[in-house]
Amino acid sequence: MENSFGSNLNSKRSGARALLTIAIAVGSLAGNPILAADPAQAPKYTGPGSCSSPACHGGVQDRTETSVLQNEYSTWVVRDKHAQAYTVLTNPLGTRMAKILGLPKPDTAPKCLACHALDVPLEQRARTFDLTDGVGCENCHGPASAWLGPHTARDWKYEKSLELGMYNTRDLVKRSEKCLSCHLGTPEKFVDHEMLAAGHPDLYFELGSFMSVMPVHWKEVEKDPWFAVRTLGVGQAVQLREQLRRVAREAQGGIWPEYAELECFSCHHSLTAAKDSWRQDRGYPGRRPGNPPLNLARFVVFRKIIQEADRGAAQQLESEMGRVYSLVTALNSDRRQVASQATSAAETADRIAQRLAGVQLQFDQAMTLRLMKSIAGDAESIAQQGEGSAEQATMVMDSLFIAYNQNAHLGNEAQIKAALHTLFEQLKDQSAYHAFKFARDLRSLNSLLP
Ligand code: HEC
Ligand code: HEC
Ligand code: HEC
Ligand code: HEC
Repeated sequence: MENSFGSNLNSKRSGARALLTIAIAVGSLAGNPILAADPAQAPKYTGPGSCSSPACHGGVQDRTETSVLQNEYSTWVVRDKHAQAYTVLTNPLGTRMAKILGLPKPDTAPKCLACHALDVPLEQRARTFDLTDGVGCENCHGPASAWLGPHTARDWKYEKSLELGMYNTRDLVKRSEKCLSCHLGTPEKFVDHEMLAAGHPDLYFELGSFMSVMPVHWKEVEKDPWFAVRTLGVGQAVQLREQLRRVAREAQGGIWPEYAELECFSCHHSLTAAKDSWRQDRGYPGRRPGNPPLNLARFVVFRKIIQEADRGAAQQLESEMGRVYSLVTALNSDRRQVASQATSAAETADRIAQRLAGVQLQFDQAMTLRLMKSIAGDAESIAQQGEGSAEQATMVMDSLFIAYNQNAHLGNEAQIKAALHTLFEQLKDQSAYHAFKFARDLRSLNSLLP
């Protein structure tokens, strides 16, 4: 189904390879701890070319008779932006970034290759490996050398591939972690305010929307019709957890306050006449007027999901987030205290992620509708947290609507789509974001829900 986030994303922000003989050591067992400790025996990365044979994942049309589509390679190379990830490093923006940051070249800098390619140690690169392939199959699915040969056998089980080093993208927590390793960052790879100031696009994410923008190259194995709702819930939990861990790291050892943790447009908005200022109209609850607030985008929408899923945990996270917010927003708090509060909140978010991913919790039509209504019903407070929060709310509402509409019919589908489009329009000029106008439009969307 056409997703309005996809078509709005671009406006808002800015061949056939040789069939390769599989020269792999099937004998190098990744599951064997003794062998895996020796780097020469560790599973190797073979490059996406190894998956591109027409009989494997390089077909042109979807196969209907098998459980995998077998055109994954064609989809990735032609339509998936990940295949361009290396090439964009040397576009005019990447080149200027490197110059500002004092890097010799963007396409050789480990700082950039970390997320724009598969920058693994030399001894883990098979003969067929090519760095210029960008973000390829093995960035997400793990090193293929040990399972590439055997995984095509008729009675081969997914679990066997996992034992041989395949990454478990079916597991929603792991899937979110994998995406966020590049779309939010890790201790080893990050986009901080220095990189943003040099021109790097801001990193934002919502698993539901980003999964639907990525050209589909899989069939969802999960049969639950409300799986998309679970997916976005888990994605929200994991991204909050990862942001809190990052805050803890920065407060402990990095540059602090790290501007990239704060609401960008509390600093980067355009000034208006005092009478037209929604910020002065709103006031500055919970902080010294003028102090930039912690960016709560990864919490204000998520808190609605947890209230549905786990009320006890919701209360605990509310109070922990309240403390992190006050400490960060005060700007001069004790750094160890910031780190320890952020770490506790991250632990709570982690427990919630596991609960949301677990089978004990069921998602259904009624809950999906309640979620949409409770997010849209909180229009004022979400909108007043700033542009980043409005953006999360819009993406999540879009994902929830798509999931709802696929399973239950709404008579006014076209009107709801138009209302979502209006919200995306409000985010186009980020520096001109206006909380009261956004809240008004989110309320209109709410009034269209049954
Ligand atoms: C933490 C991971 C990460 C690191 C490190 C990183 N990037 Fe990126 N970069 C991304 C992601 C993710 C996007 C896509 C953002 C989006 O659209 O949501 C991106 C987008 C870009 C773009 C815009 C691409 C386009 O389509 O116009 C450029 C240029 C770029 N990065 C250059 C660099 C350079 C140069 C470096 C090193 C100085 C670097 N990046 C380091 C993750 C990263
Ligand atoms: C940016 C991450 C990413 C890249 C790059 C990527 N995939 Fe995937 N792939 C996923 C996700 C997420 C799923 C869906 C979850 C799942 O089914 O495991 C998936 C599913 C699949 C499946 C179905 C697996 C299953 O669970 O039955 C196959 C087969 C597959 N991918 C092959 C490929 C091939 C071949 C390439 C390279 C040409 C590739 N993928 C590139 C993320 C990626
Ligand atoms: C190894 C790093 C890496 C991983 C892992 C990764 N991405 Fe990306 N992703 C990137 C980079 C870099 C770009 C920007 C590429 C470009 O601009 O050409 C990108 C771009 C995208 C885009 C296009 C965004 C736009 O602005 O159009 C989507 C959607 C996306 N990724 C989704 C995902 C999802 C979903 C996952 C997990 C299943 C994932 N990515 C995992 C690095 C990664
Ligand atoms: C505490 C205030 C503050 C916060 C919060 C902040 N910035 Fe900045 N930013 C600055 C300052 C100061 C500069 C340097 C401006 C100059 O030199 O003219 C800057 C520079 C920039 C620039 C380059 C200047 C330009 O006009 O192109 C970009 C892009 C940028 N920031 C993006 C962001 C993003 C994205 C976020 C949120 C993730 C953010 N900033 C959060 C204060 C802030």
